[in-house]
Amino acid sequence: MPDTSINPPVLDALIIGAGFSGMYQLLCLRDRLGLSALVLEAGEGVGGTWYWNRYPGARCDSESHSYCYSFSPELLQEWVWTERYPEQPEIMRYMNHVADRFSLRRDIRFNTRVTGASWDAAENLWRVETHAGQHYAARYLIAAVGCLSTANVPKIAGLDSFEGRWLHTGEWPHEGVDFTGLRVGQIGTGSTGIQSVPVIAEQAGHLTVFQRTANYSTPARNAPLTAEFQAWVKANYGDITQTMRQTRNGHWFRIQDRSVFSVSEEEREAAFERAWEKGGLQFRSEFGDITTNLEANSKAAEFIRRKIRETVTDPEKARLLSEIDHPYAAKRPPIDSGYFEAMNRDNVTLVDVKANPIVAITPTGIRTTAAEYEVDVIVFATGFDAMTGPLLRLNITGRDGLALSDAWAAGPRSYLGLQVEGFPNMFTVTGPGSPSVLTNMPVAIEQHVEWITQAIAHLRAEGVDRIEPDPQAVADWLVKVDEAAAETLLPQASSSWYLGANVPGKPRVFMPYAGGMAKYREICDRVAAEGYTGFVLERDGAAVG
Ligand SMILES: Cc1cc2nc3c(=O)[nH]c(=O)nc-3n(C[C@H](O)[C@H](O)[C@H](O)COP(=O)(O)OP(=O)(O)OC[C@H]3O[C@@H](n4cnc5c(N)ncnc54)[C@H](O)[C@@H]3O)c2cc1C
Ligand SMILES: NC(=O)c1ccc[n+]([C@@H]2O[C@H](COP(=O)([O-])OP(=O)(O)OC[C@H]3O[C@@H](n4cnc5c(N)ncnc54)[C@H](OP(=O)(O)O)[C@@H]3O)[C@@H](O)[C@H]2O)c1
Repeated sequence: MPDTSINPPVLDALIIGAGFSGMYQLLCLRDRLGLSALVLEAGEGVGGTWYWNRYPGARCDSESHSYCYSFSPELLQEWVWTERYPEQPEIMRYMNHVADRFSLRRDIRFNTRVTGASWDAAENLWRVETHAGQHYAARYLIAAVGCLSTANVPKIAGLDSFEGRWLHTGEWPHEGVDFTGLRVGQIGTGSTGIQSVPVIAEQAGHLTVFQRTANYSTPARNAPLTAEFQAWVKANYGDITQTMRQTRNGHWFRIQDRSVFSVSEEEREAAFERAWEKGGLQFRSEFGDITTNLEANSKAAEFIRRKIRETVTDPEKARLLSEIDHPYAAKRPPIDSGYFEAMNRDNVTLVDVKANPIVAITPTGIRTTAAEYEVDVIVFATGFDAMTGPLLRLNITGRDGLALSDAWAAGPRSYLGLQVEGFPNMFTVTGPGSPSVLTNMPVAIEQHVEWITQAIAHLRAEGVDRIEPDPQAVADWLVKVDEAAAETLLPQASSSWYLGANVPGKPRVFMPYAGGMAKYREICDRVAAEGYTGFVLERDGAAVG
């Protein structure tokens, strides 16, 4: 039975979200610190991203042996990944295995969406409310709500009038969708859309792809893992994990230091070919300046454009797909399994909605400024209100009734992406201002969860009641986040969700920290070792230290 009293028992910690972040946070607080901790999760099961994103073709872009928890050597040894890039069902099996192995489910309340959270200064605790009117109270509030968990369905006039079915890839029906013989319209060609096109095209009668911004993509070269590779991984997990902690983006491969211009044109071409054959995100690994130097980047970009033109047989489709308006990897680079090849199918049409924007959904299809396309189903592969969306939807109010939506009216402000000024004892796992989405995320998640756990242990050991960032530390960190982004080409993609550009009206602020995971980890470790510099710690209303 839900606890509907307004004075529920006070927990040590309340965690929102049961994806990679929330599950590990529960394990750390409950099993390592011995705290009373509970997870509230909107979905019916664990898995977060992989619970919700069940669209055709959904699979990981990180390589399987690196897209998993590293905290348990036993778990690393016993779990066997079968493909280079596991499909959604395989990742869900893994998440369920972790939940069972560590007995997490008993402390997770499923089907429980948090709709409000407020700081009770008098009692020094967080009061949380759910969609069903349940009330919870806890000393610490940990938002493990994910960076990409709020589906963005664009507000297009007439959607209500559509007589067919429409779906968003991030809220895909569990029973699947049968497209056999149907006319499907897919809006969006990001990482998601690029994965779903080849699979939908195989089944649908006709697929019309509505492309606003053309995208680079490199072949994933997915394949089943050989027994030799599986054995090699298990024998070398120590080194692999170590490498992931040392690299800039948390992947298991290293990016070479050399410049695109340090080699002859022939060598460069051979290196790009090698990288293309290796496939996936490793395409970036041959040279160190692709993401920082526009001229170097343009060599990689032109190589990919040429590959697109060589693959796509229809000259108009090839032009639309290869005229890309931003540097390679300035937006999250997709990887694909036959995306450009699928464009050669007779049942796939590509529509340029940059030149002729969508103006309305009609009862029978999608209308652009140039034409109307009749469809039976619309697939919105239109991404997410990323990073801030899930946090703002919690309707959080902090000290003196400050709403998070007001504190972040001009964009997210945090210290290290871990805490927000005015919101004591609240932590965000992979919050804006941390490396988060610029990394292989399990690495960033484990680092944050472990840092938060250590911080809470410290506060309890020292009898500290409250922790909150110092305003100056927040201001200084925002400058560092801006500076780190400016050293890369990332801010140059004007349509990037990293900047909030995909959601009309969202402040244009580059949200993740681009200085690299390894450097960020060092900063966080130093802050903790020096007694939580940049944070204000209070005991009985007085600053500590
Ligand atoms: C399709 C897709 C593929 C991806 N592939 C990769 C990849 O290959 N490599 C990589 O590094 N990253 C990838 N990511 C990023 C991925 O989000 C992270 O890797 C990781 O799964 C995030 O885990 P999380 O627990 O932080 O967040 P999530 O997995 O998003 O979990 C957050 C949970 O919080 C819950 N929640 C949110 N709001 C509320 C609320 N108000 N009340 C209750 N519960 C709430 C949600 O229901 C969700 O279950 C991908 C993302 C997407 C969308
Ligand atoms: N396997 C993986 O690793 C994987 C797979 C999927 C997703 N992801 C993660 O999730 C992130 C989001 O990916 P995503 O593909 O879901 O979203 P996305 O990258 O934001 O792409 C959304 C697509 O929809 C288009 N779009 C949005 N609104 C539109 C509108 N009103 N009209 C026409 N087109 C519109 C966008 O065009 P514009 O570009 O012009 O805005 C873009 O092509 C990725 O970047 C990645 O981090 C990872």
